[in-house]
Amino acid sequence: MIEGPKVNTGAAFPKMASGQLRFLEVNPSGMKNIVILISGTGSNMAAIVHTAERERWAERLNARVAAVISNRPDAAGLRTAAQAGIAAAVVDHKGFASRETFDAALMQAIDAHQPALVALAGFMRILTPGFVAHYAGRVVNIHPSLLPAFPGLHTHQRAIDEGCKLAGATVHHVTAQLDHGHILAQAAVPVLPGDTADTLAARVLTQEHLIYPRAIAQLLQK
Ligand code: GRF
Repeated sequence: MIEGPKVNTGAAFPKMASGQLRFLEVNPSGMKNIVILISGTGSNMAAIVHTAERERWAERLNARVAAVISNRPDAAGLRTAAQAGIAAAVVDHKGFASRETFDAALMQAIDAHQPALVALAGFMRILTPGFVAHYAGRVVNIHPSLLPAFPGLHTHQRAIDEGCKLAGATVHHVTAQLDHGHILAQAAVPVLPGDTADTLAARVLTQEHLIYPRAIAQLLQK
């Protein structure tokens, strides 16, 4: 039996009434809300949260990280978000029979925060075309390769296997096609002799933590 959706939108952020699911650039509080989707560690999410604090996005950009939502209840990033005082919620994909029903519940949880921007940060789910259309132009992702090279999984091992001398990360708009969409920012790092997928991933990750918050800040300035 499929369990009902496990949706917890966070006590600090009341849900909008049903039927009121509207996408707004600026919500009634006057702030541009960012909702971050994660599945695991959430180090990119933490980088965005810390950069927003350090660079005073609330005052300078009229923007804030309003919520962090995970499709996995055990995602370590949920605790990191809660410790930073950000509403942390779970929409467990295992509770849904199809991608469409999961995405519908996810959209409801996201829309409760009236987001200007939805940022995927290590969110390991393929999104339906309906989800992408709902947030057209307002969803960004970070991918650990120099797109258009190596969309999909195992990017670091694939780069090593191909003999790449450079690897990196890409921030891009999300379209219905996996790991495609207009490129907003990239960073390259060398692939060093003796690199493993893990050592290369760690080198790339340090750059992800720089380019993702920067790209989001640039989008919010527009
Ligand atoms: C990052 O390398 C990201 O590019 C990829 O998954 C990893 C997630 O790391 N999609 P974290 O959860 O942000 O620490």
